[in-house]
Amino acid sequence: MPAKDMIVGLDIGTTKVCAVIGEWNENGKVQITGVGTSPSEGLRRGVVVNIEATMRAVNAAIEAAEMMSGREVQEVVTGIGGAHIEGINSRGVVAVTGKGREINRNDVQRVIDAAKAIVIPMDREVIHVIPQEFVVDDQGGIKDPLDMIGIRLEAEVHIITGSVTSAQNLLKCVNRAGFRVQDIVLQSLASGKAVLSKEEMELGVLLIDLGGGTTDVLMYSDGAPFFTDVLSVGGGQVTNDISIMLKTPYEAAEKIKREAGCAYLPMVDSEEEVIIPGVGGWPAASIPRKEVCKIVQPRMEEIFEMVKTRLEKKGLLAHLGGGVVVTGGGAELPGTAELAREVFGIPARVGYPVKADGLTDVYQKAAYATGVGLVLYASEFVEAEEGRQLPVKRSGDSFAGKIKNWFKEFL
Ligand SMILES: Nc1ncnc2c1ncn2[C@@H]1O[C@H](COP(=O)(O)OP(=O)(O)OP(=O)(O)O)[C@@H](O)[C@H]1O
Ligand SMILES: [Mg+2]
Repeated sequence: MPAKDMIVGLDIGTTKVCAVIGEWNENGKVQITGVGTSPSEGLRRGVVVNIEATMRAVNAAIEAAEMMSGREVQEVVTGIGGAHIEGINSRGVVAVTGKGREINRNDVQRVIDAAKAIVIPMDREVIHVIPQEFVVDDQGGIKDPLDMIGIRLEAEVHIITGSVTSAQNLLKCVNRAGFRVQDIVLQSLASGKAVLSKEEMELGVLLIDLGGGTTDVLMYSDGAPFFTDVLSVGGGQVTNDISIMLKTPYEAAEKIKREAGCAYLPMVDSEEEVIIPGVGGWPAASIPRKEVCKIVQPRMEEIFEMVKTRLEKKGLLAHLGGGVVVTGGGAELPGTAELAREVFGIPARVGYPVKADGLTDVYQKAAYATGVGLVLYASEFVEAEEGRQLPVKRSGDSFAGKIKNWFKEFL
């Protein structure tokens, strides 16, 4: 792989497309040097439904990021989301074959392949295979088994699959816009990279990425992804409710939500008033902010309850020592953390993408978590491959490897 000095994350969301440019500084640390966004109109619930519209938004977002950083973009790492995404846990076992029964890279690759050998429907493709832990003979909880001595090597992995056609449409938009896709990464995995701490991942944490059209759920246990889900609801529903209840157009409702919305009633003062713009010749009116909150809170609560039910069914709620982290544009609504704390009954916070350097005041918004996370995710692979650092590369993913598979079926 040629030496790289920049990496571009492209988050194609339901409400906006966001391009983030990351460059390595002289100290070998990735810095965000450009962020560009463009309203997105070609997606429904996280999935591309209009190639032309999405292509235009991709071009506009990348152009804006190029302007900010002064760099030209050719390749991108793209996120993928939508309700077609599924996560399952699997395990594989192999005999250690190396000299002196020392586990080598080949053994690790073989055991991951064995764990990955599950039956996947023809219309789905594996997006990620992420090792959770390895077991050498009977010793469990091993994160990196390389060079250990053993006879039997087991791997527990989290496999994420998605619809082939959804991924192909995504690739098509980006390619037609004139860019090469280096890799496709699950959006929530990227968001997690940007907003979660290592400690939270170890303790067990629930990441909720509340977007415009989808709510992505990713639970980490013992430092690795354990449960993935994508719900087809998001902040768009909240705006819709305001629009219907206050009999105001969607755009006006969105403005009211952003300026005066709150997800937690106890935080709103009874005296506060909100101006509702007049439509169709009607004069503008003023209503108590509490009334807006009474529309917003039940919908946000419903979304959190849906997430909670899914985790409850799997018996996972008791494994969240690291609490709940809510990110995505939907988390910018005041009271989000307070409401999540109440619904889940455990500590909750809003996740901002703080784990990168550079133009901090520009990109540290919850809505940019996926875009920034894509840069961080991909940069780890590049650094590992170039030997800039020596992180334990224990992921079953090979950077860019899977793009070949998508294309194989695409052509
Ligand atoms: N300041 C704010 N206050 C309240 N809501 C906000 C704010 N900023 C953004 N939102 C809401 O966040 C949502 C968009 O979030 P985000 O940009 O993360 O979505 P997306 O990535 O485009 O969509 P998805 O991930 O669902 O495909 C919208 O519903 C928008 O109303
Ligand atoms: Mg999103």
